[in-house]
Amino acid sequence: MSKTISGFSKLSKSKKIDWIVNTYFSNTEEAKRVLKQYWSSNEKLQQLHDEFIENTITNFYLPLGVAPNFLINNTLYTIPMAIEESSVVAAASKAAKFWLDRGGFKTTIISTTKIGQVHFMYHGNFNKLQGFFKQVKPKLIKATKAITKNMEARGGGIIDIELRDKTNDIKGYYQLHVSFETLDAMGANFINSCLEQFAKTFKNEALVFDGFSENEKHIQIVMSILSNYVPDCLVRAEVSCKVEELKEDHSISGEDFATKFVQAVNIAEVEPYRAVTHNKGIMNGIDAVVLATGNDFRAIEAGVHAYASRHGKYSSLTHAKIENGIFTFWIEIPLALGTVGGLTGLHPLVKLALELLHNPSAKELMQIVAVAGLAQNFAALRSLTTTGIQQGHMKMHLLNILNQFEASNNEKIILTEHFKTNTVTHTAVVEALNKLRNGA
Ligand code: MEV
Repeated sequence: MSKTISGFSKLSKSKKIDWIVNTYFSNTEEAKRVLKQYWSSNEKLQQLHDEFIENTITNFYLPLGVAPNFLINNTLYTIPMAIEESSVVAAASKAAKFWLDRGGFKTTIISTTKIGQVHFMYHGNFNKLQGFFKQVKPKLIKATKAITKNMEARGGGIIDIELRDKTNDIKGYYQLHVSFETLDAMGANFINSCLEQFAKTFKNEALVFDGFSENEKHIQIVMSILSNYVPDCLVRAEVSCKVEELKEDHSISGEDFATKFVQAVNIAEVEPYRAVTHNKGIMNGIDAVVLATGNDFRAIEAGVHAYASRHGKYSSLTHAKIENGIFTFWIEIPLALGTVGGLTGLHPLVKLALELLHNPSAKELMQIVAVAGLAQNFAALRSLTTTGIQQGHMKMHLLNILNQFEASNNEKIILTEHFKTNTVTHTAVVEALNKLRNGA
């Protein structure tokens, strides 16, 4: 039976571990060993990780891989990817190489606006609220000057504040809907600080606004928070080539491949069951780069999937067409990313990943991430519409299976060679390993 504990966060790290292992594990020493084997011997680095969150007991490792040969707008990149799924980096590298010989990826930033909202309740005359908003708007901007000064000096800041009437959805519900330009910062702290100041000023000014009746003066602020839905922070990435240039081997012609590929994308555009998996594959690439560059992948996920449903039905994030013998495949995706602030200057591996990407601006990172998503989707659809996904997937998964059975390095070499020409299945690997071990 689990126990409750109070004051847990105040315990030392070793006391926290003692409590956990004594409460939940029968082999306490083994549990401690597993936790501690992931501690860094570099005390400063370990302390940095301990202090990222509350109640850190160890570090959770993910592999950091790289996918080279990404030609994006004529610049070559090696893209860092933090991900556990065996085939993702290999697929990205393959797609990069494929398009390297066909002109590479072309990207454009469509827009970079971010949104935050103050949600409030007001039970009075709407015209009066509009009059109040008009009068208070400059005061809202002025009240945030201390917060916005630096951002404005760099060319960003508050773009606009709108009053939105949401009373059709909820009685008495209104918003201050605010747009921001946060340049190279993801901007969550900046936006939330501005919004909280708006809320304070808005509420206080309402109390002394002559145009309101006594009741109307009492505006109730519900909450102030940025939105992770950023349909106006949009990037496009594209690849294109002549249809015949898509041909790689003799198994399928360029025309047949292009036609099947476009069909696969069309299916994801109209069929939500397929669209979710299709987009999941895109997010394999996107999340891996977002994570490696210290950005908030939950924010990206939430915003991307909302965007995929923007027409009222969940649909594909990528599109493809064949026109005048040219195959074009593209993605348009909202990505609110930062290359300053947050973890970017704090986590040594994040700093290294950003340096590997030539220390990109947020706009450049948006383009790189969009390309990673498009490349991943290209690789997945290419396999799905030709060989099927399992061949490549299981090849990459082979080492995981071998590790599960604690195969030695020598066994891994022999069996990797064996499975170059044999189909990888869990059973086939176990059989081959047993045979090898029994000297057969
Ligand atoms: C697996 O992680 C991702 C795929 O299922 C994506 C897809 O089906 O397009 C291969």
